Amino acid sequence: MPDVITIDGPSASGKSSVARRVAAELGLPYVSSGLIYRGVTYQVKRYGINPDDEAAIVRMLGQHPVQLVPLPEGNRMLAEGQDVTAQMHTLEIDQAVSAVARHPEVRAYVYRSLRALQPPFVVEGRDMGSTVFPDAALKFYLTATPEVRARRRLGERDADYATVLAELIRRDAADAKQIPPAPDAIIIDTSAMGLEEVVQTILERIRR
Ligand code: C5P
Repeated sequence: MPDVITIDGPSASGKSSVARRVAAELGLPYVSSGLIYRGVTYQVKRYGINPDDEAAIVRMLGQHPVQLVPLPEGNRMLAEGQDVTAQMHTLEIDQAVSAVARHPEVRAYVYRSLRALQPPFVVEGRDMGSTVFPDAALKFYLTATPEVRARRRLGERDADYATVLAELIRRDAADAKQIPPAPDAIIIDTSAMGLEEVVQTILERIRR
């Protein structure tokens, strides 16, 4: 069984649902790296910090850290010990998170949090295979057209299709630096695939 399995891809590519299912099938914890960026963004908003002020964000995190708890039934985000998971997937956080996540020192904070976790696990994000766990035994990269991804995300947000699609395209552009897959990643276009089909494709590669 590989130690670390990475599943990367753009927003709403299905990576968190897929990672959760693959991890459950393998009896491993799954880890959502995006949730840490969301937790940091939550704190930035809570303390009224300018998302462009990298030094202020890092100072704030020193005093008000966030912690990812990868429970088998789902990842929890703690901000200073308080569970704020229910507030992580709002349009407000969606709109601010890329600005916060682009700072190298914020990324270093998240990388340290992830590398401190005890393997084995399945981790999902954008640069897990390319940057954070370059030695991962198996790396997957999920893609899908923006329209398919917007349709999948609709219903998870309090917004209509046009708003969700526009926000997704905007976030793709803002996250573009993190998006290229690792050269050794297995790329799966999920546009015409259901969740279970993607899960089975990945499990088949892992068990091969
Ligand atoms: O995956 P999720 O949509 O929860 O990620 C939220 C945001 O966190 C992304 O839009 C991106 O800005 C940032 N992120 C990142 N690198 C990762 C995971 C997430 O920059 N590995």
